[in-house]
Formats: sequence, structure tokens, C-alpha cells
Amino acid sequence: QQLDMELAAIEKGGYDHFMLKEINEQPETIFDCLRGRLIATTGQIIMSGIDNNIDILVNAQRIVIVACGTSWHAGLVAEYFFEELCRIPVEVEYASEFRYRNPIISKGDVIIAISQSGETADTLVALENAKEQGAFIFGVVNAVGSSIARLSHAGAYTHSGPEIGVASTKAFTGQLAVLMMMGLKIAYAKGTIDHNRYVELMKSLESVPEKVKEILANVDTIKAIAEKYKDAKDFLFLGRGYNFPVALEGALKLKEVSYIHAEGYPAAEMKHGPIALVDENLPVVFAATKDRYYEKIVSNVQEIKARKGKVIAVASMGDEVIPNMANDTMFVSDIDEVIAPILSVVPLQLLSYFIGIAKGFDVDKPRNLAKSVTVE
Ligand code: G6P
Repeated sequence: QQLDMELAAIEKGGYDHFMLKEINEQPETIFDCLRGRLIATTGQIIMSGIDNNIDILVNAQRIVIVACGTSWHAGLVAEYFFEELCRIPVEVEYASEFRYRNPIISKGDVIIAISQSGETADTLVALENAKEQGAFIFGVVNAVGSSIARLSHAGAYTHSGPEIGVASTKAFTGQLAVLMMMGLKIAYAKGTIDHNRYVELMKSLESVPEKVKEILANVDTIKAIAEKYKDAKDFLFLGRGYNFPVALEGALKLKEVSYIHAEGYPAAEMKHGPIALVDENLPVVFAATKDRYYEKIVSNVQEIKARKGKVIAVASMGDEVIPNMANDTMFVSDIDEVIAPILSVVPLQLLSYFIGIAKGFDVDKPRNLAKSVTVE
């Protein structure tokens, strides 16, 4: 017993919880994921799983992304990224729904499976079915040698290292990094991205580990925000475009570790329902970094403020408009909008962590949740 406790303390590397350790590891894990693959100076992205199958990927009629939970959110980000850069239609499916509804799978479909554990039962069976029907399966997996990795025709590991905290953090940013490299590589091979933009995005991606470090250096602000809102009964998370999946992920993290009811929505959709919930007791978290939707998001923030909702914003460093309107702001470095989710999710991971801790919960092992769901 004593030994187990000491071992656990050592494994946590000086952090109180695995979740915090894993959030803090992200500059390194993202770096490890990019290392040896992304070389912006020469304009190369080396990923053998893609190089060996480049014709299949470039000629894909459709990409179907299959995943669960946080991995499904990474898939949503990839949908925006792949459609914009590669001009390939993408569908993102909950593995559990996909497998049971007799989906139409045609030759020329590429299935991308995203899974941290590589063992999620619904994802695994969905892939087995698709494979039987002749689809090409590409795995984006963290656990080396796992069932999904073995079942895939090709793949790319996220190299995030073991993730112990049940609420996924570093595996998510690793998935985003892999999917972004993949999208860039396919777009370049397909000729749907010009050379300058390609190199520009590679450089942006390369700058991510340093920019995550900046966020992690300012945790005290986020901790104070957590203290302020920890007793709220509900939270709403809003975002547009690339930040819409970030809103979903922010809400999921909060539910998982703080047991506070939270919903993520596309910011424009709030008018179709969630706005009815807004009053002085509802914190609304906006993922509102500078991008093509910025003016629209500013209007959405105003709509919440006009109804006395409390606004917590994730905003770009240097932005003066949103921080002025918001009750509280968490800043991230300015970055190209298509890369933004990998940064804007980090303050939301920390916010959930600090709220969970402030409420006295075991954030590493939330009630009723499992790290890997191997039952159907
Ligand atoms: C469980 C975990 C989540 C994870 C999901 C999918 O619900 O608690 O953190 O996102 O499974 O798991 P996978 O290993 O397939 O990514």
C-alpha cells in the first residue's frame, strides 16, 4: 500500500494529479509528435503511413472519420481542416452510431479511426465492418500495438506517451497535430494548397509547443477564474468554425471532472435554444480567438452580455475588444486560425481541472467513467 502510494507520487512527477501533469506535458508531447516528421525549413512532412498510401488518400472520394468522446472532437476539427485544405468531403461519425446503422461504404472511401487507447469497442467493431466492406482504414492512435492500430491498413501514432488521467488532454492535442500534418501532406500532394500557404502552416504548427508553454506559464489567472465560477450549476461553451469543436471539448472536460452540467454549441446556434437559459447565473465560455468569424463572435458575446450572462473568453493575445466585454479572459498567442484549436483547448483543460479540484473531486478518476471503454 505504502509502496503503491510512493510509486504513484513518483509517476506524477511532482504534480498533484496525472491530469495536471499531462496538461503540462503538452509542449513536449506535441513536439515529440512533430519531431522527425515536420521539417518546415525544407518543406517536408515525413509520415510513412501516408507516403506509402498517398494515391489512395489523394484520390479519396470521401473521408469518414470514426471515433468516440474526445477523439470524436479531434475528428470534427479535422473535418474543417481536410475540407478546406484537401477539398475532400468529410463526415465525422460516432462509432456507435456508424456501426449499427448499416452505413453506405463505397470503394474510394477512406476511413480515419481516431483513438487514444486503440481499444474502444464501438470504434473497433465499426472499423471491422468497414474493412470487410473494402474501405481503406487509417488509424490515428496513441497506444502502440493496440487493437485499432493492428486492424488499420496504415496509420500514424500520436506519440503522446501513456495517458493516465481519464479525461483526455495530451492525447487530444497529439491527435490534432497528427491530423493537421496529414491534412497538409495530402493537400500538398493533391495540389489544393499553394506552396507559401503550406510552408506558412507548417511554421505555425511548429510554433505550437512554445505557444502552449506561454499558456501554461499563466495558470494563476485560470485558477482564479475557476474559483470564481466553481459553484455554477450549468455552463455553456460556444465557438464558431475551427473553435466549434473546441467548445464541445471544453464542455466535455468540465462535465467529466467537475460534474457540472455543460453544453457545447456552435455560437450561432445559441439563438435556436440555449439562449433561453442565459441569465446572471450562467457562465458562457467563448472560444473566441482572432479568425474569420471574429466579428460574428463579438456580436454573440454582446448577445450574452445583454442578457446578463457571465462571459469567460479564450481570446488572442493583443485583442482588446473581447477582453473588454468579457467578465474574464484567458489569453492564447495569436496563430493561424486553422491551427488555433490546438492552442485554444489548453485553457479549457486547465479551467476544468481547477474547477474539479476546487470542488474536491478526484479528477484523475471521475465517477462512472473509464479510461478505455471496451464494452459495447
Ligand atoms: C472514454 C474516455 C475518453 C475518450 C473516449 C474515446 O470515454 O474516457 O477520454 O475520449 O473513451 O477513447 P479512445 O481511446 O478511443 O480515444
